[in-house]
Parts: sequence; C-alpha cells; structure tokens
Amino acid sequence: MEKIAKVGEVAKKIKEKIEGYDGLIRVVTHYDPDGLTSGAIMVKTLLRINKKFHLTIVEHLSKEVIDELVREKQYNDALFIFCDMGSGQIEHLIENNFNAIILDHHQPKVKEVEVNGILQLNPHIFGIDGAREVSASGICYMVAREFGFYDLSVLAITGAIGDMQHKPFIGLNKFILNEGREHRYLSIIKDIIYNCYNMPIWEAITYSTNPYIRELSDKEECLKFLKNLKINPSKKELTHEEKQKLTNALIFYRKPEDFIVDRYVIKHKVNDAYYLSELLNACGRKGLTSVGIGVALEDDECIKIAKETHLKYKKELIEELKRVKPKRMKNIEYFKGKKGMIGIVASILVKDKPVLGYHEEGEKVKVSSRGNKDLVDRGLNLGKVMEVAKEFGGEGGGHDVAAGATLPKVRLEEFLKKVDEIVGEQLKQTPKT
Ligand code: C5P
Ligand code: C5P
Repeated sequence: MEKIAKVGEVAKKIKEKIEGYDGLIRVVTHYDPDGLTSGAIMVKTLLRINKKFHLTIVEHLSKEVIDELVREKQYNDALFIFCDMGSGQIEHLIENNFNAIILDHHQPKVKEVEVNGILQLNPHIFGIDGAREVSASGICYMVAREFGFYDLSVLAITGAIGDMQHKPFIGLNKFILNEGREHRYLSIIKDIIYNCYNMPIWEAITYSTNPYIRELSDKEECLKFLKNLKINPSKKELTHEEKQKLTNALIFYRKPEDFIVDRYVIKHKVNDAYYLSELLNACGRKGLTSVGIGVALEDDECIKIAKETHLKYKKELIEELKRVKPKRMKNIEYFKGKKGMIGIVASILVKDKPVLGYHEEGEKVKVSSRGNKDLVDRGLNLGKVMEVAKEFGGEGGGHDVAAGATLPKVRLEEFLKKVDEIVGEQLKQTPKT
C-alpha cells in the first residue's frame, strides 16, 4: 500500500505539470493493446481538461523516431507524454532537451522520478514489478485518477490483459481492479471464455487462440462437435445447461482453467475487457492503430471495423498455427513466421522450451521470443537472452517471459546458436534428445 501511495504522489506531481502547461501536448504511445489503452486514457484525460494535444502511435521508440520528434519540435515546441515507452530511452530524451513526462512500466535506465526536468512514473522505481503488477495503461490511469476519472480504470484493466498480467491480477493491477469495481465500472464473473465475444459459439470456438484447440479449429469439425452436444452453433449466449454440457465435452481437450475464466465485464460499448484487448491487438497488428484508439473511445464505426478486422486476424492466426512447424535446437525452438503474428504464435507453441519466431524486414530480421511461467521459475530470462543481439549488430531486450530483438538477417544463424547456448545455461538442464 505504501508503494502505491508513492506512485500516487508522483502521479499528483504529473497532474500538476499537465495542468500548468498551456501549449501543445504530444502524447506518444505504443501500438499494442497496452499502448493503445494508455493513449486512450491520456486522450480522454486531456480532452476533459481542455488541453490541446496530438497523439502519435509508434512500434518502438527507436533512435529514428526520436530524431523525427526532435525535428518536429523545432517547429512546435511541446510537452511530450511518452506512454509504454521512454524509460529505456531516457538518455536520448535528455540529450535532446525534451520537456517530457514518461509513463512506462519497462525496466528504467535511471531509477529516478525527476531527471533533467523529465518526470518519470515507472513502477520499478518503487519496487513494483512492471512485468506482472502493472502495465503502462495502469500507470496512465494512476495519473487520470488524480483528476477523478475513475471510469478509465476499465481501459487500464484492458491494457493489463493485453500484456497478459491477469492470471491473476496482483499488486497495483488489483488495486485498480478494485477501484473500478467499487465505482461500478467493472464486475467479475466466472464464465466460459467463448461467451465474451458476443459471436456465434461455433465461430468463437473455431477461431479461438486462447485456448487454441487444434481439433476444433476447423469449422466442420466444430459444427459436428456442437451438433453432438445438441447446441445450436449460431447461438451467441449459452444457457447454464449448455455451458455445463460444453464444459464436460471440452475437458476432453483441455484443463477446465483454460476455458472457465474470470470475465471482466466493463462499462464500455465492447463490454468485455478481454474481447476489447483482442480487438485492440488485431487493430494494432493490422496497422489500424487509429481505429484502435477509436474503439477504446467507443466510436461505433471503429468498433464495427475492429470486429471485422479481429475475425480476419484470428482466421489468419489459425492458418499460421496450422502451418508453422518449429525447428528444435537443444534448448529452444524457432520458426519463420509472418509480421504481426510471431509473438502470439510463439507464445501459443511454448511447451517445454522457449520458442522464437522471426520474420524478415529488408536486410533485418525481427525476432520475438516467448516462454512460460514454468520456464521462468527454472531460471529463464528472455530479456537478458535477447540483449545478446548487440553482439550480432542488432538490439534486443524485454521481459523474462517475453522479449524481442532486431538484427541483420545474415547473422541470424549465429544468433540462434548463441541464444540456444545462453538459454541452456539459464535453465541448467540436461536437454531431452
Ligand atoms: O512491450 P510490452 O512489454 O508491452 O510487451 C509485452 C509483450 O509480452 C506482449 O506482447 C505480451 O502479450 C507478451 N507476454 C507474453 N506472455 C506473458 C507476458 C507477456 O507473451 N506471460
Ligand atoms: O516485439 P515483441 O512483442 O516480441 O516484444 C516483447 C517485449 O520485448 C516487449 O516488451 C518489447 O518492448 C520488448 N523489446 C525490447 N527491445 C527490442 C524488442 C522488444 O525491449 N528490441
């Protein structure tokens, strides 16, 4: 609680900085669900307090992006709010004299709140784990709640789900969740996950990637399965009895925890936080980031486009999951995949070894690596592993369970060998052959 109070104190300072600034405010955020919800929380906050702002969405706060912002800054000086990024790039922001606020949950380079006039709110500074206890949207919400905007807690929770921090919610996330419940913007129900989509049950099951049930990921097979259970496949909302029947049949494929989940029902036009995070993910991955922001802001047209995009994205994802056959090394598995899908495909394929997916981008390759809790408990830290990209002319980093890298295409083979070696050291296991 004391840690949360400290976060609150910094949030208050940030509120005052925003209130005291009358020029243009530039919000720069990330394209994934956590970034989009962070952006939406800031946009709503700034709109409500009558500030002039401009929102920019990027894939990564790279040196090129910073250089571009510096160029633009010459023409229109602004207060920058970096969401879901900035703590790792703070040196570049200082070098370029940014007047900025950083609202991030990645490991900070400098563990200080005020650095050369930049105000940084990062949970790690207060001993709160940004990989598990709060995401960037939660940090943005901590600022929004200083203005009394408790309704934005639903977006904070959606962002945390996007970063997979909900199994279960702990620490600051739990605090935000409880605040949302107290103010009646959110409620929790135990339910079958397929019910969250408000789509025909056959479609929800066939195109589900969480859980991914290969045997049912084919329309005809799934229709047959539902017919045997005497469940009308086009029904969107199942009765208690039907859910029971479905549960009993699904146990054949998966443990009940995989499909009986806590659903977060939210006061939002997309009334389920998990579904909302999936819509935002599909928009981000498909390059429709402004549609994503529109969805978070409850624009009807954007929600319609997002629902179509989501279904298309899920179909492609299922195709990709059927196509991909990862190659096994001693300690890792890897595969060549498609842009926008390597991370999620890798995370679905993880069993007893970490999985790396990569895709080419010109002369470079982009790598996403994913593990699971068991592997992390055994010592895996993919963030550290991906940092080795530096030795191969690239860059990388991230969390223990999920991390990424970019490096020259020609060095990929050597890089994978090195990664295999480091993972072996981290896990200190005798690999099965
Ligand atoms: O940039 P950022 O920290 O927000 O990205 C975290 C990424 O890690 C997300 O893509 C999230 O889905 C992924 N992740 C994962 N498994 C976890 C935790 C996070 O794949 N257990
Ligand atoms: O790109 P991907 O989804 O695989 O990234 C997983 C995590 O690794 C994210 O938190 C991302 O911010 C981080 N990452 C990083 N440096 C990179 C690439 C990814 O810190 N070069």
